[in-house]
This record gives sequence, structure tokens and C-alpha cells, in this order.
Amino acid sequence: MEKYAVILGKNPELSLVELKAFSRRFRLGVRILEERIYGSNKSFAIIQAKEDIEKYFRWIGGSLKLVRLIGEGVDSIRDLEYSKLFTVSVYGRRVDWKEWRRFGSMIKEVFKEKDSAKFFKPANTYAMPSELILKGFPKVKDVVLLFVDDKVLVGETVRVTDPFELKKLDVERPVVRPTISIPPRLARVMVNLSEIRRGNVLDPFCGTGTIVMELTLQGLNAYGTDIEEGRVRDAKKNIDWLRKEFRIRKYPVLKVCDVRRLRKCFPRTRFDAIITEPYMGKPLKYKPSRGEAIKIAKGLDRLYYQAFESFADVLKRGSIIVFVFPAFSLSNGEVYRRNRPWLEELGFKVLYRVSEGEEEHRIVRDIHVIKFIR
Ligand SMILES: C[S@@+](CC[C@H](N)C(=O)[O-])C[C@H]1O[C@@H](n2cnc3c(N)ncnc32)[C@H](O)[C@@H]1O
Repeated sequence: MEKYAVILGKNPELSLVELKAFSRRFRLGVRILEERIYGSNKSFAIIQAKEDIEKYFRWIGGSLKLVRLIGEGVDSIRDLEYSKLFTVSVYGRRVDWKEWRRFGSMIKEVFKEKDSAKFFKPANTYAMPSELILKGFPKVKDVVLLFVDDKVLVGETVRVTDPFELKKLDVERPVVRPTISIPPRLARVMVNLSEIRRGNVLDPFCGTGTIVMELTLQGLNAYGTDIEEGRVRDAKKNIDWLRKEFRIRKYPVLKVCDVRRLRKCFPRTRFDAIITEPYMGKPLKYKPSRGEAIKIAKGLDRLYYQAFESFADVLKRGSIIVFVFPAFSLSNGEVYRRNRPWLEELGFKVLYRVSEGEEEHRIVRDIHVIKFIR
């Protein structure tokens, strides 16, 4: 077991839930020792994990950096391996430019005992973003100082998630429809929440195919269906592009199907997981009142109820469903999240829920991780 720090993304609660699911998915034995939640991209977790986490880290969606910890106390910078070019990232405490430079000079002194070293100082940032690290990786070492209570932990970044790849998936694919698409980073998170490593995975509201693309990229047997022929055509275009760009042989199954008729569309296939963001109603022009939100949610639940009835027809027992239910930001500042006791009646058990999306949005994602137990 090794000690690491994981730098969490914008939504630390979701990142932590993902990290735990990711650990189960790839059997990484992650134990969270400390959590520190700060503003956007500044939160981190100190963990213990198998070294394999370095191999799989590229597949995590909600975290930014994996930092291998070297020691406790500033003196442990002596144990860092020499690097000609390095930078310094500080987490867990506000630093000013002077202090940050001082850390840099200390490290430089240590490295200089071996050979010359240069402190790379990008503009106005005391925590190196992954974009900059990737540009210089692995030549530029990102030395990381993490302040936890009254101790400081020293480490170095060993892996980052690739924002260029995620951006490419988002904007370079032929069919981009931001209003109905989920961000590729979130698709990646949802695949981890499903804990699926092999088998057949379905997105029955596939739209332009973001989730199917992620499943295909990860080498899973992906299936995508949508009620609209146009969307299936869009998803096909995106998949063709993905296969070419990322040199993937495997082709997912894409077809037109009403979610209520899955058994008819797949008479012989059984699925190991369903990962989906369904139709969430017409876009809202304003934040609804509680009464309006309840009315909209009730209307949508009719479709969701039928969808889950249909899921039961095609899922293997014990499989996981990652499903985004809509929650509504109300005009009075509250968020309306619905409970759905009918899920249990249909043989599904909600394992946990986690929210995604800022409160200023009218619709917030209420992500459910559900097990099919009957
Ligand atoms: C929110 S979008 C999914 C977006 C997708 N996650 C993406 O990122 O591209 C919902 C999709 O559900 C489809 N849909 C609506 N009702 C459906 C039904 N009864 N069966 C299957 N698909 C349906 C719509 O055509 C739409 O493409």
C-alpha cells in the first residue's frame, strides 16, 4: 500500500463518491485517511491505495491529480528525486507569492546538490493546473505541498487526468448539442459509479451518444438506444469519429428504441449495467415554484416508472443502474428532490444519491446509484 493525495475536481462530494466506486471497480483498496474540502479544484483527499491506482487513474472523471506522498515535514523535500525543471503546487492553505517563492528556493537548493535546477513559475497560480503539467510532463516535476492541520505533507504529481482528451471529446466530435448532452467528464464519473469492468452496458436515452462514447473508449460492450431516429444517427456519427480518432476496433450497438420496449428491441441480450441521463422535460425558462416543480416531476415520473419496468425485463439480477433524475432549483432558493418509493416496488434498491450542478441552474442532477435486486 502506498500513500497518495488525490486533488479533487469542482464537485468534491461527487469526486469522493466516485473515488470509492473507482476503487471497488478496479480493486485498488483505497482507504480515505483525510478529506479537506475547499473551493473549486482545491479540495483533496489523503488516501492509502495499491500502486495500481497509478495505472488506472487516467480513467477517473472527477479528480485532477494523483500525488505520491514522500514524507511529512518540509525536510522531506530532501527525499524528492532530482529534476532539472520543477514547479510547486500548494494545497490546504493560502500562500502568497513570497512564500511560494521561498518553497521554490528551498527545493532548488536541494536539487542543486545534484545539478542545476530551475523553478518554473507560471503566471498567478500556486497550484499547477493539469494542462500546464501535461505540456511539460514528465520533464517538469510538480512538487506538491499539502497542509493538513498543523502538518505539511510533501509529494509529487505522478498522474493527471487529461483535460485535453476530455475537451476533444466534448467539442471536436461532429455532433455537439450542449443543451441535451452531458459533459464527457460526467459520463466518465457515471461509468465509474456503475463499477462495471466488463459486460454489456446500455444507455437507453443515448441522445448524441456521450455515454456510449465513453463506454466504447473504455472497451466495454456498449449499447445505445433512443426513441428519435435523428439522435441515433447523431450518435453514429460521433461514434464513427471516436473510433477513427482513438483507433478503436469495437463497434457499439446503436438503434432506435422506445425505452418502454427494451425487451422487444433486445429479445436475446441481457445487460450488466444501465448508465443514463434520461429525458428531463422541456427546458425551463425560469425557476419554478414548489407546486410547479412537483407537477413537472410527477409527469416525468410516469415515463421513469415505465422505463424501470422495462429495465427489469432486460437486466441481470444484481446489476447497477446509474440514473440521473432531475431535481429542481426553486424560485424560493430551495432545491426540490423527489423520493421514489415505487423503485423498491419494482425490485430496485437505491444505494446512494449525489447531486451535480450549481444551484443557479434550474435543473440540478440528482444522480442515483441503484441496484436491481429482484
Ligand atoms: C437528455 S437526452 C440524453 C442526452 C445524452 N445523455 C447525451 O449526453 O447526449 C434525452 C434523450 O432521451 C430521448 N427520449 C425521450 N423519450 C424517450 C423514450 N421514451 N425512449 C427513448 N428515448 C427517449 C430523447 O430523444 C433525447 O435524445
